[in-house]
Amino acid sequence: MGGARLAGEVRVTGAKNSVLKLMAASLLAEGLTVLHEVPDILDVEYMAELLRRLGCDVVRDTDGRSVSIAVPAVPLHKADYDLVRRLRASINVLGPLLARCGEADVALPGGDNIGSRGLDMHVAGLEKLGATVRSEHGFLIATRDKRLHGASVWLDFPSVGATENLLMAAVLADGVTVIDNAAREPEIVDICAMLTAMGATIDGVGTSTLEIHGVDSLSPVTHTTVPDRLVAGTWAVAAAMTRGDVTIRNARADHLDIALDKLVSSGSVVDVLDDGFRVRNHDRPRAVDIVTLPYPGFPTDLQPQFIALNSIARGAAMVTENLFEARFRFVNEMVRLGADVRTDGHHALVRGKESLSGAPVEAADIRAGAGLVLAGLVAEGVTTVYEPHHVDRGYEGFIGDLGTLGADVTRIEVNHLT
Ligand code: EPU
Repeated sequence: MGGARLAGEVRVTGAKNSVLKLMAASLLAEGLTVLHEVPDILDVEYMAELLRRLGCDVVRDTDGRSVSIAVPAVPLHKADYDLVRRLRASINVLGPLLARCGEADVALPGGDNIGSRGLDMHVAGLEKLGATVRSEHGFLIATRDKRLHGASVWLDFPSVGATENLLMAAVLADGVTVIDNAAREPEIVDICAMLTAMGATIDGVGTSTLEIHGVDSLSPVTHTTVPDRLVAGTWAVAAAMTRGDVTIRNARADHLDIALDKLVSSGSVVDVLDDGFRVRNHDRPRAVDIVTLPYPGFPTDLQPQFIALNSIARGAAMVTENLFEARFRFVNEMVRLGADVRTDGHHALVRGKESLSGAPVEAADIRAGAGLVLAGLVAEGVTTVYEPHHVDRGYEGFIGDLGTLGADVTRIEVNHLT
């Protein structure tokens, strides 16, 4: 139900896009890994199930925020399609399994409906480290005859997933690996911190050149997941759009520099606090141009939320999507809500309107779902977001938190026609 002004406090948990990789990294060491600040979301459940099928014992602790993973001496090495198709991040077990077991058979992933999302850089990089990789019957099969060896790898593009897979393979390789044009996302820094605590030596953490000195073995550790900048960013946009006042705890403003700066340009006041930040806005936002780029550029995972903001802003904005071509499919749903958005290739021109008009819409991926919920908060009347399981993949307790902040949002069961 549109029309609420969000006010109050929310607390963000650990980042989905970090914890899934930290869980995969646990495979690198026999014994008990404990991860803190693990969000209770569907994607974590899928990754836990994948690890169980690889022979690990995975338990969510009674505090609800931690997960313990007991990794056997010899994990199994096959990740089946039924799980991989639900969770693209399953591909992150490729590097650790190859390094640890000598073979990894990972079904080719599906995941979000946001574009082609190739694996060529993962494969080329692992081959440089001495792996043989082939695709057979829908599986990517990576093997090695002997220990992987260090190598120089230049990525065509700073791919998050390829950087992570190469890191997790290189830490157990013989010699030094240099990854050039590596991704620099805070989630990469987090996985480097965990690998270093496990006994790896990695230079250049947080830069685009990572130098990894391989070691013979790693030890399990206890690690706290970096806060989810994308969930924090979503709350920040929600506050700005609803002319609200929201304090976001356990959040890192320094991981959201450009996004928060855009909110300030749009008229919000952002105060950085010790453990988070506060976003206030009293007026209709001004439209802000957005160009998505790898970190530290503007994150593609906040692009739909900013299209939602621009759709009710004063003025017009150009939004350019450089990472996932299909992310603009969400625009068709925004148009159903009365937004004035036109796309041309990877550009979207958004002309702000005074109001949107509630309607049934469908979420095609996690961030599109979040963007549509935000649009529903400001649209007149009722907006029904179908396929909310996409939102559940990335946002813990979203509906409950929205309610706490004053929004009128209800989850309803729909009887699908068969
Ligand atoms: N790409 C290739 N070849 C490769 C690897 C990537 O062409 O070998 C292309 C992809 O097709 C895509 C671009 O490079 O166009 C970016 O891919 P990247 O590998 O950087 O992304 P990812 O690892 O697949 C992660 C996040 C995404 C996030 C992107 C970009 C996880 C589980 N997923 O995906 O998060 O959008 O990085 O920051 O970490 C989300 O949380 O909603 C989400 C989709």
